[in-house]
Amino acid sequence: MSHDDQVRKLGKKFTRACHANFGPMLLAMHVKGFRGVPHLTLSFTSPITALSGLNGTGKSTIAQLAACAFRQPDGYALLRFYVAHFFPVSPADPHPFAADAEVHYTYATEGHSTPQQLTVKRAAKEWSGYKRQPQRATHYIGFTQFIPKVERRDMSVYGARTLELGETRQLQPQAAQHVARILGLPYDQLAFTDVRTTTKSSKLAMASRGGQTYSENHMGFGEGRVVYMVNTLETAPPKSLILLEEPETSLHGDAQVRLAQYLVDVANRRGHQIILTTHSAAILGQFGRESVVYLRRTPENGVTATHGLSTYQIDSHLQREGRIPDGITICVEDAFARCLTTWIFRTTDPDLLSGCTFLEIGGGQEIPGAVKLLRNAKRRTVGLSDGDMPHDGAGGVITLPGSLPPEKEVFFHPAVKDYFARAPFNVDITETLAGVADHHNYAKVIADRLMLDPTAIASDACRAYVEAHESADFFSLTDYVRSEVGDRR
Ligand SMILES: Nc1ncnc2c1ncn2[C@@H]1O[C@H](COP(=O)(O)OP(=O)(O)OP(=O)(O)O)[C@@H](O)[C@H]1O
Ligand SMILES: [Mg+2]
Repeated sequence: MSHDDQVRKLGKKFTRACHANFGPMLLAMHVKGFRGVPHLTLSFTSPITALSGLNGTGKSTIAQLAACAFRQPDGYALLRFYVAHFFPVSPADPHPFAADAEVHYTYATEGHSTPQQLTVKRAAKEWSGYKRQPQRATHYIGFTQFIPKVERRDMSVYGARTLELGETRQLQPQAAQHVARILGLPYDQLAFTDVRTTTKSSKLAMASRGGQTYSENHMGFGEGRVVYMVNTLETAPPKSLILLEEPETSLHGDAQVRLAQYLVDVANRRGHQIILTTHSAAILGQFGRESVVYLRRTPENGVTATHGLSTYQIDSHLQREGRIPDGITICVEDAFARCLTTWIFRTTDPDLLSGCTFLEIGGGQEIPGAVKLLRNAKRRTVGLSDGDMPHDGAGGVITLPGSLPPEKEVFFHPAVKDYFARAPFNVDITETLAGVADHHNYAKVIADRLMLDPTAIASDACRAYVEAHESADFFSLTDYVRSEVGDRR
């Protein structure tokens, strides 16, 4: 099954039978008065939730509070994770939470009955309210899960002379295969070995590869973390809650992509709910929109959560553009929409173009949310949606010309077909694109045929399309943009 199919499957399993497939999942959290998060309501609309946002926006705070949502199954050393463990009060940090701090949890329940709700709050000097928590295995994989033992002066390194090896347990063959695939390393064997010195005992990950065997003391940092992470995800009881702190740490970009794909696979296979914090665009790019949550600090020092957007679409833009205070941000779906808009502005109203920067949002559904966020951040912003996602101008979003996706509007316009039919191209567009199901591939298919770059084809096509029109055809669009950003001709 392709990765995209796995993403769709995960979405369907969640919407159709969330409790049956994933157990008493956390469906929502309302957080009040923790660290830098005065108020935040967050809904979990997929078994995987990736929290993105600038440093200090509350990602780890949310993940840690989520870890405190359940009672562990019998046999676990800890009865549960406690809020007090993650938010210790000390003379150095007398107020990590407000006096009236609380977390309100909403859990999935069987059938279509009302979700279960529960509030954990600070009562006098203790945290209370845990009692009716559903039971569900919870694993928190933070930064210390794999600190190379050589750095933390662990006994397996510093008691090395007296170290005795005990029993060895192989990783499940399937888990070892996943580790090998994520890292691109051909292991012969992966195992955990019990070790002890005269005073202590522990376990050590061991790998065999290319005829050599080495312990985690000699593993790469990324390698060690992946072994621990995958082992936990494969051996935890089905339908566990797994919290991952920045799982991209120390991983090569390609390995980050494969790790994210593995997370979708394991959530599907084993019914886990996975909540992760991340700064990795490579990881976010592998999840569906319902799995991506973007946290942003508001000017009033609150925090907001928006589904479908990531730091890389908004914050990096704001930081870059903050230096041009009067600029206009135009949110479009993708590079083709941007190219078409550029040609429309260049031909119809070139002055407008000189003050604009474009932001490619990736999905049409996300454009209204992005416009709202950027306007809240005091940026002059307009959204231009594709023709197949109509908007009437309300909320700063209007539709590009036509009623089809812009690739279809442009490439099948008679003037564009004529442009490519002539020398030096001599390409019949209708025939070339006949078997191409996805319009996002149009420019690439034509470019491959002509041995040119797709961006050059898109630019030529958009230019021919715009030049076949009267300027007046586009006035309603350019006038709208000017009026929305308070800039009249
Ligand atoms: N006592 C406090 N009162 C108010 N704000 C606090 C307090 N303690 C910490 N903070 C804020 O909370 C932030 C920490 O939040 P958190 O660790 O959840 O952020 P994060 O999004 O995980 O950041 P990063 O990406 O750096 O890991 C700090 O950056 C700080 O601004
Ligand atoms: Mg953090």
